[in-house]
Amino acid sequence: MRREEAEARLNALRAEIDYHNHRYYVLDDPVIPDAEYDRLMRELVDLEAAWPDLVTPDSPSQRVGAQPLKEFGEVRHRMPMLSLNNAFTDADVAAFDRRVREALGRPDAAIEYAAEPKFDGLAIALHYEQGRLVQGATRGDGYSGEDVTANLRTVHSIPLRLREADVPPWLEVRGEVLMLKRDFQRLNEEARARGGKVFANPRNAAAGSLRQLDPNITAQRRLTFFAYGIGRVEGVELPPTHAGIMDWLARLRFPVAAERRVVNGVDGLLAYFRELGARRHDLPYEIDGAVYKVNDLADQARLGFVARAPRFAIAHKYPAQEELTVVEAIEVNVGRTGALTPVARLRPVFVGGVTVSNATLHNQDEIDRKDVRVGDTVIVRRAGDVIPEIVGVVLDRRPKPEPPRFDILQHYPVCPVCGSRVVRAEGEAVVRCSGGLYCPAQRKQALLHFASRRAMDVEGLGEKLVDQLVDLGLVHTPADLYRLDLPTLAGLERMAQKSAGNLLAAIEKSKHTTLARFIYALGIPNVGEATAGDLARHFGSLDALLAADVEALQQVQDVGPVVARSIADFLAEPHNRQVIGALRSAGVHWAEDAGQRTPAGPLAGKTFVLTGTLPSLARDQARDLIEAAGGKVSGSVSKKTDYVVAGADPGSKLDKAQALGIPVLDEAGLLSLLSPPETTQDRSV
Ligand code: IVH
Repeated sequence: MRREEAEARLNALRAEIDYHNHRYYVLDDPVIPDAEYDRLMRELVDLEAAWPDLVTPDSPSQRVGAQPLKEFGEVRHRMPMLSLNNAFTDADVAAFDRRVREALGRPDAAIEYAAEPKFDGLAIALHYEQGRLVQGATRGDGYSGEDVTANLRTVHSIPLRLREADVPPWLEVRGEVLMLKRDFQRLNEEARARGGKVFANPRNAAAGSLRQLDPNITAQRRLTFFAYGIGRVEGVELPPTHAGIMDWLARLRFPVAAERRVVNGVDGLLAYFRELGARRHDLPYEIDGAVYKVNDLADQARLGFVARAPRFAIAHKYPAQEELTVVEAIEVNVGRTGALTPVARLRPVFVGGVTVSNATLHNQDEIDRKDVRVGDTVIVRRAGDVIPEIVGVVLDRRPKPEPPRFDILQHYPVCPVCGSRVVRAEGEAVVRCSGGLYCPAQRKQALLHFASRRAMDVEGLGEKLVDQLVDLGLVHTPADLYRLDLPTLAGLERMAQKSAGNLLAAIEKSKHTTLARFIYALGIPNVGEATAGDLARHFGSLDALLAADVEALQQVQDVGPVVARSIADFLAEPHNRQVIGALRSAGVHWAEDAGQRTPAGPLAGKTFVLTGTLPSLARDQARDLIEAAGGKVSGSVSKKTDYVVAGADPGSKLDKAQALGIPVLDEAGLLSLLSPPETTQDRSV
């Protein structure tokens, strides 16, 4: 290829890549697949490698790869980068509008304003000479900032070269560098996975990323830019309004907010503020208010500046979403599943439009990660309807001597609600109250589970009834169900004599059950139906189960250390033993010896795993059929699995079965294994 040919091709490629870059990063509307973009980019890089002296700083290949700096240079702003005065209330906005009208000598006019989001990022200035990006600087103190050109080049939405016809010989564009919410989340997720530093909010993440001396780091951070105005411009006639300038910048391929509007008078401003506020949480970037600018540039010039802020513009702020406050105590809430959730009691603080005095700390891992201690000064965040959270601790303000780390188990060895022992299963983030059946906090959940169809199967005992029974103090533990009488039940809301009679009959019927169902009904953490069945088969009697220690429990098929610990903790809790005793005294019974017998039936001793949707059988039905035929259903595929039954959309279990060479059946295959039909169904376990 001749030099002129290479040059022409390079120019064409750069223009094409710039175009697609704008479609992708600014308009969010790409017109070619990524692979095609990558192909263009590769061709460019290869050609530049062959002709190194034809590489230009505005080439799209130059967004990455610059050498790290020792320090940032200083840039003096030719026009100072000022700040805005703030308005917090409608009255502040009305006062601003009145000042504008009066200063312009049009006290009765409805002024036209350009209204736009107030981006929560960092102000920067971009300098373009003959349409080429030559310098980018931070705001600094408003008069001089830092030269962050190499870092800004890595921001894909910032054009490196302006390609329109009316590009001025000198143009300074001002705007905000920020990180989109989704990029922020991803950055923090990656950092968390690596055990690295997480940022408190997108603004801090953007600031931290822009002020990197190594542009390669900035490049990985995915920053975005939005233009909101211009600085010095030479050699073109500008549009007469701010809105016109924004449209012009958009034509030059700068990203500008789609949410910008032209509105009239104070009513227009306030309506805009509320509309934007309602959409705030759906926007891809964070904003902290709206900015109102007198639209007419001649009027702007007439209004001028006071001190360091323009008289023609104002920032109308939403209530702060982050504030500082002090952790006065850390307490726990006991949830419906017995989980103890730590809650920070805060010195009340007004944030996000409400007074916040509590924030959840989720679990011990979260407390450890954030290292929140009693007495700490913390950043509290409340965004919209989101529950308040502690973003981080201000370590400089930690009291001296340092308060100890907070350990839930140490502070709450027993449940604050019922006094049962609190335990943390190995490998689990949550700590739990072990008083499952007895703990008032867990009562409703425990009762619903106890009565559910595949547990004790008390037909008709639903949520509304359980709510009433517990709220009226009629039922404290499942054993109390067996003491209910007709007049009491008939007196409940939405109950008549007949339905009360039906419920009593269902309760009575549930007394005759199987050991597996009974164990499942206890609601032991980590014990589902399959494990309950294993336990019943293995121990054969409740007394044998109650006598088992962790080691004995681990002998049960599919019971590992975590599940064994969880069962042992539950059964070690005297309150739970009391309830189990009360249930037996109330007449709940099953055939004790059934468990040790080898189950009969054509599938005796065979272990099945179900995956995907079967054409006619529901998962529960398939399980019942297999169990009725003496087989066992397990949740995961292992070498011990005899068959995997796969339906439509099977999960990874099918892959695993195939990898291990385990026979895979469809529904018809399963049904044929179940014949001959004269199978005796021994369901006494
Ligand atoms: S116009 C004379 N428009 O707010 C100042 N600023 O408090 C002209 N900001 O430093 C600024 N969004 O970083 C303007 N749509 C917007 C803005 C905006 C965010 C920031 C900017 C500035 C600060 C002023």
